[in-house]
Amino acid sequence: MDKKFKRTLVTTALPYANGPVHIGHLAGVYVPADIYTRYLRLRGEDVVMIGGSDEHGVPITIKARKEGVTPQDIVDRYHKIIKDSFEEFGISFSVYSRTSSELHHQTASEFFRRLYDNGQFVEQTSKQLYDPEAKQFLADRYVTGECPHCHSEGAYGDQCEKCGTSLSANDLINPKSAISGATPELRETHHWYLPLDRWQPALSKWILEEHTEWKPNVYGQCKSWIDLGLQPRAVSRDLDWGVPVPVEGAEGKVLYVWFDAPIGYISNTKEILPDTWETYWKDPETRIINFIGKDNIVFHCIVFPAMLMAYGDNFQLPDNVPANEFLNLEGDKISTSRNWAIWLHEYLRDFPGKQDVLRYVLTANAPETKDNDFTWRDFQTRNNSELVAILGNFVNRAVVLTHKYFDGVVPAAGNLTDIDNEALAELKAIKERLTDNLDNFRFREGLKEAMNIARLGNKYLQDTEPWKLAKTDMARVATVLNIAIQICGSIDIACEPFLPFMAGKLKTMLGLEKLEWADLGKSDLIASGTKLGEAQLLFEKIEDEAINAQLDRLDRIKKENQVKNFKPEPIAETIDLSVFEKADLRIGTVVECKPVKKAKKLLQFLIDDGLEQRTILSGIAEHYKAEDLVGKQVVFIANLAPREIRGIVSNGMILSALNADGSLKVISPSAPSTPGAKVC
Ligand code: MF3
Ligand code: ZN
Repeated sequence: MDKKFKRTLVTTALPYANGPVHIGHLAGVYVPADIYTRYLRLRGEDVVMIGGSDEHGVPITIKARKEGVTPQDIVDRYHKIIKDSFEEFGISFSVYSRTSSELHHQTASEFFRRLYDNGQFVEQTSKQLYDPEAKQFLADRYVTGECPHCHSEGAYGDQCEKCGTSLSANDLINPKSAISGATPELRETHHWYLPLDRWQPALSKWILEEHTEWKPNVYGQCKSWIDLGLQPRAVSRDLDWGVPVPVEGAEGKVLYVWFDAPIGYISNTKEILPDTWETYWKDPETRIINFIGKDNIVFHCIVFPAMLMAYGDNFQLPDNVPANEFLNLEGDKISTSRNWAIWLHEYLRDFPGKQDVLRYVLTANAPETKDNDFTWRDFQTRNNSELVAILGNFVNRAVVLTHKYFDGVVPAAGNLTDIDNEALAELKAIKERLTDNLDNFRFREGLKEAMNIARLGNKYLQDTEPWKLAKTDMARVATVLNIAIQICGSIDIACEPFLPFMAGKLKTMLGLEKLEWADLGKSDLIASGTKLGEAQLLFEKIEDEAINAQLDRLDRIKKENQVKNFKPEPIAETIDLSVFEKADLRIGTVVECKPVKKAKKLLQFLIDDGLEQRTILSGIAEHYKAEDLVGKQVVFIANLAPREIRGIVSNGMILSALNADGSLKVISPSAPSTPGAKVC
């Protein structure tokens, strides 16, 4: 790390406590932040990692209203789920607190008050949307409508999720209240605005000139905001949930959630370091790193820094803001409202003890430079053919062989050969690349390098074949296994930031006391004479059943969503009764039913129509097992002109309902009927 810094403050975006956290949050923010923090700790750096729940904001009050409970009930519920699951997942926060705490309310209040007293706000009266039925102003997500940019429906008052544009509620086309559905009217209200335009020159210099090293996605977003010209932004809202605006005449107004939430980083630092927190925020020798997702960039790079500059008093700006792009799930955007997500607390329930597998997959597929996709098949493959077959396999072989030939006591190495020296040199080269990747927030590449140590180990054993040497040259076996165990030690250190649970087990197995980055790559990391613990499997195979159960769950959710969002087709044009009466609809009984070769959608029916038996083809093979339909009664069109499909002549058409989830259900009479009966 850069010499000019003495300590690091890592912050992680505070998740809204209106739902549990999912793999998108983990991949975007918490796993990378945890890797980075653990890495700095291994280097012996002074680092604190700040987390906490964001407990204000409209999504929380909307959810509370929907469930008929208080916002406090909602945040209590989710704060606990989130906090517990992070802990079980090994996200090593120094503190995980919450913005409904008294300390936070005080801190945020004081922050606002100082800006207010120093003339850092402008007060403005404007017309805002008001719900006359709910008798309340409609801020942010309380109003939905058509996006003025991409014209899709369902855009929120603060943002369109389709095109990602951040919006102002008044710009929505045909706005509707999310509370009552009423059409809002415009009413006057007054608010405090942070004049970002005042900070434009300072922000422009700080980011565009001094931080050209930031990730292109972050730098680019900042540049386009700055180029457009920064505008004053309201920092208060007409709501009753949040930090009250600490000014006379501000009844019924609270701080905007995006004003108070980042101050949560400060409150939470105060909470664990009541005496020294200021050093972490105000000493220029502190380096601040904000881990966030891409939707948070403007708040962390523009708004919060402007707040800190307006506050003065030496508050330091972040040194880097390594924002990630988004993770998708099985090709679809992750969404809390559509339940299209893998929830951390459910993963921990379904895959107990497998924290590292998810951490591994999320890092290997991290959306660092572009959106990425999580699939359960990839999860299984990465576990089975990388963690088990490469990492687990190497460590297991090295430890088992040492037990077999030396009773588990690490033998001393004799003279090193070229092969040994090459392996040790490659280990050093990997360490350099790994360190460089971690220093520069390239965790995906970093993980590859950490795994390369295990690949190196496997290759080393393959090249030296100690199991063959054991017949002739035990001195050489001693050297080879000594080096293999040293490689295991380096794996332990290199993987700790990524796979801390595995690293803990391996540490015990290797008899290591403390893991330190400085020891990574050393050829005397584990002293000869060290007694190894029993070989334990570090990873186990994940079977198809476990994966299929997850895929089935997603399938069910997809269908549920289709049903929820089903909009029946508009009714077709009016016809005369005489037109309808031309179709001769009858009841028939299925005598035979079988699949059609090379046509995966078709079933071939033999139908008793009361007069004779006729063949009808129907495209429902993906919805029924043929044998289940035999004996059933169906409705069919009896006077349709015959049609030949795949060499079979179909005499009629069986009627089915096409449902919201895409399924087809054959129409049957509600009670047994006579074959040939007219349907009228
Ligand atoms: N709750 C916000 C989100 O999930 C993030 C808040 S980050 C903080 O998008 F800086 F405001 F704390
Ligand atoms: Zn849009």
